[in-house]
Amino acid sequence: MSAEIEKSPRAITVPVIAIDGPSGSGKGTIAHRVAQRLGFHVLDSGALYRLLGAAAQRHAVAMDNEAALEVLAAHLDVQFISNTDGEPVILLEGEDVTDVIRTEEAGRAASQVAALPAVRQALLARQQAFREGPGLVADGRDMGTVVFPDADVKIFLTASAEARAERRYRQLLEKGFDANLESLIDDIRARDARDTERAVAPLRPAADALILDSTDLGIDAVVDRVFAAAATAPGLARYL
Ligand code: DC
Repeated sequence: MSAEIEKSPRAITVPVIAIDGPSGSGKGTIAHRVAQRLGFHVLDSGALYRLLGAAAQRHAVAMDNEAALEVLAAHLDVQFISNTDGEPVILLEGEDVTDVIRTEEAGRAASQVAALPAVRQALLARQQAFREGPGLVADGRDMGTVVFPDADVKIFLTASAEARAERRYRQLLEKGFDANLESLIDDIRARDARDTERAVAPLRPAADALILDSTDLGIDAVVDRVFAAAATAPGLARYL
Protein backbone atom coordinates (compact mmCIF):
# COMPACT_ATOMS: atom_id res chain seq x y z
CA MET A 1 0.00 0.00 0.00
CA SER A 2 2.75 2.46 0.87
CA ALA A 3 4.50 1.57 -2.40
CA GLU A 4 1.31 2.50 -4.23
CA ILE A 5 1.17 5.87 -2.49
CA GLU A 6 4.79 6.54 -3.43
CA LYS A 7 4.06 5.74 -7.06
CA SER A 8 1.03 8.03 -7.18
CA PRO A 9 1.82 11.34 -8.94
CA ARG A 10 -0.58 13.07 -6.51
CA ALA A 11 1.82 12.30 -3.66
CA ILE A 12 4.57 14.38 -5.24
CA THR A 13 2.55 17.01 -7.15
CA VAL A 14 2.16 20.51 -5.74
CA PRO A 15 -1.58 21.27 -5.57
CA VAL A 16 -3.11 23.94 -7.78
CA ILE A 17 -6.42 25.76 -7.55
CA ALA A 18 -7.20 27.26 -10.97
CA ILE A 19 -9.51 30.26 -11.08
CA ASP A 20 -10.45 31.34 -14.59
CA GLY A 21 -12.98 33.81 -15.86
CA PRO A 22 -13.57 37.02 -17.79
CA SER A 23 -12.27 40.51 -16.94
CA GLY A 24 -13.61 41.95 -13.75
CA SER A 25 -15.17 38.75 -12.45
CA GLY A 26 -13.24 39.17 -9.19
CA LYS A 27 -10.73 36.39 -9.86
CA GLY A 28 -7.81 38.38 -8.46
CA THR A 29 -9.51 39.20 -5.17
CA ILE A 30 -10.79 35.65 -4.73
CA ALA A 31 -7.43 34.11 -5.67
CA HIS A 32 -5.63 36.25 -3.09
CA ARG A 33 -8.15 35.47 -0.34
CA VAL A 34 -8.01 31.74 -0.99
CA ALA A 35 -4.21 31.73 -1.21
CA GLN A 36 -3.85 33.72 1.99
CA ARG A 37 -6.04 31.30 3.92
CA LEU A 38 -4.08 28.30 2.65
CA GLY A 39 -0.61 29.90 2.72
CA PHE A 40 -0.32 29.20 -1.03
CA HIS A 41 1.44 31.21 -3.73
CA VAL A 42 -0.54 33.23 -6.30
CA LEU A 43 -0.05 33.44 -10.04
CA ASP A 44 -1.67 36.51 -11.60
CA SER A 45 -1.22 35.34 -15.19
CA GLY A 46 -3.02 38.38 -16.61
CA ALA A 47 -0.24 40.54 -15.15
CA LEU A 48 2.26 38.75 -17.39
CA TYR A 49 0.25 39.64 -20.51
CA ARG A 50 -0.18 43.19 -19.22
CA LEU A 51 3.58 43.40 -18.58
CA LEU A 52 4.30 42.18 -22.08
CA GLY A 53 1.97 44.84 -23.51
CA ALA A 54 3.79 47.47 -21.44
CA ALA A 55 7.19 46.17 -22.55
CA ALA A 56 6.04 46.27 -26.18
CA GLN A 57 5.01 49.90 -25.80
CA ARG A 58 8.29 50.73 -24.11
CA HIS A 59 10.33 49.12 -26.89
CA ALA A 60 8.07 50.40 -29.70
CA VAL A 61 7.07 46.87 -30.77
CA ALA A 62 3.73 46.71 -32.60
CA MET A 63 1.00 44.71 -30.79
CA ASP A 64 0.65 42.40 -33.80
CA ASN A 65 4.35 41.77 -34.43
CA GLU A 66 4.23 38.17 -33.26
CA ALA A 67 7.90 37.31 -33.86
CA ALA A 68 9.21 40.35 -31.96
CA LEU A 69 6.67 39.87 -29.16
CA GLU A 70 7.72 36.24 -28.80
CA VAL A 71 11.32 37.34 -28.23
CA LEU A 72 10.19 40.04 -25.80
CA ALA A 73 8.06 37.50 -23.90
CA ALA A 74 10.93 35.05 -23.62
CA HIS A 75 13.18 37.74 -22.14
CA LEU A 76 10.63 39.65 -20.10
CA ASP A 77 12.49 41.11 -17.12
CA VAL A 78 9.88 41.11 -14.35
CA GLN A 79 9.94 40.78 -10.59
CA PHE A 80 6.99 40.20 -8.29
CA ILE A 81 8.04 41.61 -4.92
CA SER A 82 6.48 43.21 -1.81
CA ASN A 83 6.99 46.74 -0.52
CA THR A 84 7.78 47.49 3.13
CA ASP A 85 4.03 47.33 3.96
CA GLY A 86 3.84 43.84 2.48
CA GLU A 87 1.85 45.05 -0.53
CA PRO A 88 2.60 43.47 -3.92
CA VAL A 89 4.83 45.47 -6.27
CA ILE A 90 5.58 44.55 -9.88
CA LEU A 91 8.81 45.67 -11.50
CA LEU A 92 9.37 45.72 -15.25
CA GLU A 93 13.02 46.15 -16.16
CA GLY A 94 13.53 47.39 -12.60
CA GLU A 95 10.78 50.03 -12.77
CA ASP A 96 7.63 49.96 -10.62
CA VAL A 97 4.70 49.41 -13.02
CA THR A 98 2.20 48.09 -10.44
CA ASP A 99 -0.42 50.76 -11.21
CA VAL A 100 0.46 51.45 -14.84
CA ILE A 101 -0.36 47.90 -15.92
CA ARG A 102 -3.85 48.12 -14.36
CA THR A 103 -5.14 50.82 -16.70
CA GLU A 104 -7.76 50.00 -19.36
CA GLU A 105 -5.20 50.80 -22.03
CA ALA A 106 -2.81 48.19 -20.59
CA GLY A 107 -5.68 45.70 -20.43
CA ARG A 108 -6.45 46.25 -24.12
CA ALA A 109 -2.79 45.78 -25.06
CA ALA A 110 -2.65 42.62 -22.93
CA SER A 111 -5.69 41.18 -24.65
CA GLN A 112 -4.12 41.87 -28.07
CA VAL A 113 -0.76 40.25 -27.34
CA ALA A 114 -2.51 37.37 -25.54
CA ALA A 115 -4.22 36.38 -28.79
CA LEU A 116 -0.88 35.45 -30.39
CA PRO A 117 0.00 31.74 -30.16
CA ALA A 118 3.79 32.28 -30.04
CA VAL A 119 3.38 34.69 -27.13
CA ARG A 120 1.25 32.22 -25.17
CA GLN A 121 3.79 29.48 -25.79
CA ALA A 122 6.67 31.75 -24.71
CA LEU A 123 4.90 32.53 -21.41
CA LEU A 124 3.79 28.96 -20.66
CA ALA A 125 6.85 27.66 -18.78
CA ARG A 126 7.13 30.92 -16.85
CA GLN A 127 3.59 30.46 -15.57
CA GLN A 128 4.11 26.79 -14.73
CA ALA A 129 7.22 27.72 -12.72
CA PHE A 130 4.94 29.42 -10.16
CA ARG A 131 3.86 25.93 -9.06
CA GLU A 132 5.88 25.70 -5.87
CA GLY A 133 5.12 24.18 -2.50
CA PRO A 134 3.01 24.27 -0.51
CA GLY A 135 0.61 25.11 -3.34
CA LEU A 136 -0.59 27.59 -5.93
CA VAL A 137 -3.73 29.54 -6.68
CA ALA A 138 -3.58 30.48 -10.37
CA ASP A 139 -5.75 33.25 -11.77
CA GLY A 140 -6.34 33.71 -15.50
CA ARG A 141 -8.25 32.59 -18.57
CA ASP A 142 -6.67 29.24 -19.39
CA MET A 143 -5.32 28.04 -16.04
CA GLY A 144 -7.61 25.01 -15.90
CA THR A 145 -7.60 24.29 -19.63
CA VAL A 146 -3.98 24.80 -20.77
CA VAL A 147 -1.46 25.87 -18.12
CA PHE A 148 -2.52 23.52 -15.29
CA PRO A 149 -4.87 20.96 -16.86
CA ASP A 150 -4.24 18.69 -13.86
CA ALA A 151 -5.27 21.36 -11.31
CA ASP A 152 -6.90 19.91 -8.18
CA VAL A 153 -9.78 22.38 -8.30
CA LYS A 154 -10.99 24.38 -11.31
CA ILE A 155 -13.27 27.32 -10.83
CA PHE A 156 -14.77 29.38 -13.65
CA LEU A 157 -15.82 32.66 -12.08
CA THR A 158 -18.14 34.87 -14.04
CA ALA A 159 -20.63 37.75 -13.61
CA SER A 160 -22.75 39.88 -15.93
CA ALA A 161 -20.85 42.43 -18.04
CA GLU A 162 -22.70 45.24 -16.25
CA ALA A 163 -21.77 43.99 -12.78
CA ARG A 164 -18.14 43.56 -13.81
CA ALA A 165 -17.97 47.03 -15.38
CA GLU A 166 -19.52 48.56 -12.28
CA ARG A 167 -16.90 46.88 -10.02
CA ARG A 168 -14.11 48.06 -12.29
CA TYR A 169 -15.59 51.57 -12.29
CA ARG A 170 -15.54 51.72 -8.48
CA GLN A 171 -12.00 50.31 -8.33
CA LEU A 172 -10.70 52.90 -10.80
CA LEU A 173 -12.33 55.80 -8.96
CA GLU A 174 -10.89 54.56 -5.67
CA LYS A 175 -7.44 54.53 -7.23
CA GLY A 176 -7.94 58.10 -8.44
CA PHE A 177 -8.26 57.21 -12.15
CA ASP A 178 -10.87 58.79 -14.43
CA ALA A 179 -13.60 56.38 -15.50
CA ASN A 180 -16.76 56.24 -17.57
CA LEU A 181 -19.20 53.41 -16.85
CA GLU A 182 -20.66 53.17 -20.36
CA SER A 183 -17.28 52.94 -22.02
CA LEU A 184 -16.18 50.37 -19.42
CA ILE A 185 -19.18 48.18 -20.32
CA ASP A 186 -18.30 48.49 -24.03
CA ASP A 187 -14.67 47.73 -23.24
CA ILE A 188 -15.51 44.65 -21.17
CA ARG A 189 -17.78 43.31 -23.93
CA ALA A 190 -15.07 43.87 -26.56
CA ARG A 191 -12.44 42.21 -24.37
CA ASP A 192 -14.77 39.26 -23.62
CA ALA A 193 -15.32 38.81 -27.35
CA ARG A 194 -11.59 38.94 -28.13
CA ASP A 195 -10.67 36.57 -25.27
CA THR A 196 -13.50 34.13 -26.07
CA GLU A 197 -13.19 34.08 -29.84
CA ARG A 198 -9.44 33.80 -30.23
CA ALA A 199 -8.18 30.59 -31.83
CA VAL A 200 -5.64 29.69 -29.17
CA ALA A 201 -6.51 29.03 -25.50
CA PRO A 202 -9.83 30.88 -25.69
CA LEU A 203 -11.63 31.90 -22.52
CA ARG A 204 -13.88 28.95 -21.71
CA PRO A 205 -14.54 26.78 -18.67
CA ALA A 206 -12.64 23.49 -18.44
CA ALA A 207 -14.95 20.50 -18.79
CA ASP A 208 -14.40 19.72 -15.10
CA ALA A 209 -14.67 23.31 -13.81
CA LEU A 210 -17.20 24.50 -11.26
CA ILE A 211 -18.97 27.52 -12.76
CA LEU A 212 -19.64 30.26 -10.22
CA ASP A 213 -21.73 33.29 -11.16
CA SER A 214 -20.81 36.09 -8.77
CA THR A 215 -23.26 38.70 -10.10
CA ASP A 216 -25.27 38.46 -6.87
CA LEU A 217 -22.64 36.96 -4.58
CA GLY A 218 -20.31 38.81 -2.21
CA ILE A 219 -16.60 38.01 -1.91
CA ASP A 220 -17.01 35.88 1.24
CA ALA A 221 -19.76 33.79 -0.35
CA VAL A 222 -17.58 33.10 -3.40
CA VAL A 223 -14.58 32.19 -1.21
CA ASP A 224 -16.82 29.80 0.78
CA ARG A 225 -17.85 28.06 -2.44
CA VAL A 226 -14.27 27.73 -3.58
CA PHE A 227 -13.40 26.10 -0.26
CA ALA A 228 -16.42 23.82 -0.51
CA ALA A 229 -15.10 22.67 -3.91
CA ALA A 230 -11.57 22.34 -2.51
CA ALA A 231 -12.91 20.12 0.29
CA THR A 232 -13.82 17.49 -2.30
CA ALA A 233 -10.32 17.42 -3.86
CA PRO A 234 -8.08 14.66 -2.42
CA GLY A 235 -4.89 16.60 -3.20
CA LEU A 236 -6.01 19.49 -0.99
CA ALA A 237 -7.36 17.59 2.00
CA ARG A 238 -4.27 18.09 4.16
CA TYR A 239 -4.27 21.87 3.67
CA LEU A 240 -7.88 22.51 4.74
O1 DC B 1 -6.93 39.19 -15.97
P1 DC B 1 -6.48 40.45 -16.67
O2 DC B 1 -7.61 41.39 -16.95
O3 DC B 1 -5.35 41.11 -15.96
O4 DC B 1 -5.90 39.95 -18.10
C1 DC B 1 -5.51 40.86 -19.08
C2 DC B 1 -5.63 40.23 -20.45
O5 DC B 1 -4.69 39.16 -20.57
C3 DC B 1 -7.00 39.62 -20.75
O6 DC B 1 -7.78 40.47 -21.58
C4 DC B 1 -6.71 38.36 -21.50
C5 DC B 1 -5.28 38.06 -21.24
N1 DC B 1 -5.09 36.85 -20.45
C6 DC B 1 -5.03 35.66 -21.13
O7 DC B 1 -5.22 35.63 -22.33
N2 DC B 1 -4.76 34.51 -20.45
C7 DC B 1 -4.58 34.52 -19.12
N3 DC B 1 -4.32 33.38 -18.49
C8 DC B 1 -4.67 35.73 -18.41
C9 DC B 1 -4.94 36.89 -19.10
